[in-house]
Amino acid sequence: MQNRPIKNICCIGAGYVGGPSMAVIAKHCPEIEVNVVDTNIERINLWNSKNMQKLPIYEPDLDKVLEICRGNNLFFSANIKESIAKADMIFISVNTPTKTKGMGAGYASDLKWIEASARQIGEFSKGHTIVVEKSTLPVRTAETIRSILKSHATLKIPKDTEKKEKTFSILSNPEFLAEGSAINDLENPDRVLIGGSDNESIQKLSNIYKRWINPDKVIETNLWSSELSKLVANAFLAQRISSINSISALCEATGASISEVAKAVGSDKRIGRKFLNAGPGFGGSCFKKDILNLVYLSKFYGLYEVANYWEQIININEWQQKRICELIIKKLYGTISGKKLAIFGFSFKANTNDTRESPSIIISKSLLEEGAILNIYDPRVKDQQIYTAIGSKEVNIFNSAIDAVKEVDAIIVLTEWEEFLLLDWELIFKLMRKPSWVFDSRLCLDKIKLLNIGFNMWTVGSDTEYNF
Ligand code: NAD
Ligand code: UGA
Repeated sequence: MQNRPIKNICCIGAGYVGGPSMAVIAKHCPEIEVNVVDTNIERINLWNSKNMQKLPIYEPDLDKVLEICRGNNLFFSANIKESIAKADMIFISVNTPTKTKGMGAGYASDLKWIEASARQIGEFSKGHTIVVEKSTLPVRTAETIRSILKSHATLKIPKDTEKKEKTFSILSNPEFLAEGSAINDLENPDRVLIGGSDNESIQKLSNIYKRWINPDKVIETNLWSSELSKLVANAFLAQRISSINSISALCEATGASISEVAKAVGSDKRIGRKFLNAGPGFGGSCFKKDILNLVYLSKFYGLYEVANYWEQIININEWQQKRICELIIKKLYGTISGKKLAIFGFSFKANTNDTRESPSIIISKSLLEEGAILNIYDPRVKDQQIYTAIGSKEVNIFNSAIDAVKEVDAIIVLTEWEEFLLLDWELIFKLMRKPSWVFDSRLCLDKIKLLNIGFNMWTVGSDTEYNF
């Protein structure tokens, strides 16, 4: 039975990872039926929308992949029981946010959705099932999953089915895609990581990826290395951002330019140029939660110096956002009470509609607390998402950047959407109150052009006062 090729895959969780990653598997393995299931019916309905604009997540080229396989061998549904029962391989791709209460609150991952998934698999699966951890998890979560599944193994054997015994193999296969480039990352990953001890299951999963990925890129490890590597990869990436953001402040104080420093430093091949863009601090659903998880794990194992070391990355991130708010207030004559400010960009990075942990949330909230009136524009984020994230409807949301700038004192660019560079900045200048400020926290605008138009400008990591 165990030697059968994989014919049917189920993925629990139709989110930012489950949807795109299963779509790419389905595209490259047309003979495998892939069922993506979720308890959130509304989300499932959106995944099934004929109008691709209504998909629950925005990702460049996702629509093209769905056009190829949705309805053929890729299905989105809430049929959890049925999809688990017929699957040879089940990916768990559910959310693993930071716990908000109880033991480990503020640091540990909340594994209640993982546990629920394991219980569903234990109850509904039939025959031998390969269970794949796709979610990002604390090290040794496979142990928990194994314990839950073990309590179901060989129990409740259905009478009239050819798949008689209920057995499981557990693999770890963390996902490294970044939002905004998910399809490209899934099509051309730097590596595919598979952790486990059951070689046959590892080969079955590995063979799926090898349909379109160079076999040299498939890394096989033990379960714990795989689980830990995912947390460490995110911590290293976030560490680079906090490093460059800390230096951005030093650049502003000394007259150095962060883009010049990043180029000079990143040109060393040992350091590399990527992920050295200074900004308003990292956002997204994972960096903060995964570092907090790493900190929690380190403390759990009594490694307090290790925990303190990694926690600094988050401290610098929060400090960068606070410092940007403070300097906006300072530049606007020490008060923004009653002043209209435009926020350009609400997603946590460009090319996604995801606002989780977006720097725009913290910065907008702080500016509101100081009494500012906020006009917010983002090309992809829906109004309701903004209201929910800020926790108030006391903001004005606009459908275009131009509409958002009338009579504002300042524009604060918080997401690097390409369209911001291409705006009619002469017109924007005319529409704003004078003096007109632009705060470019992403270095995504043409500073010289804007200064020539007459704007006052602050850009992260360089102070105009020193530019002569
Ligand atoms: P998400 O919140 O977008 O999606 C998770 C989905 O799982 C939700 O739709 C939820 O309703 C569903 N779900 C939860 N419990 C369920 C259950 N018992 N049965 C059926 N459905 C259930 O989350 P995401 O962004 O896709 O992240 C998923 C995991 O992948 C997380 O562990 C995250 O850390 C990791 N990850 C995310 C990214 C990313 O870019 N977002 C990248 C790599 C890894
Ligand atoms: C990140 C990782 O890049 C993925 O490999 C990982 O799979 C994923 O987290 C995850 O586990 O969820 P993501 O958060 O989608 O992906 O996006 P990133 O491109 O990493 O950006 C994260 C944040 O850092 C954004 O707010 C972005 O604007 C910021 N950033 C990124 C910078 O400020 N500077 C940079 O140079 C790069």
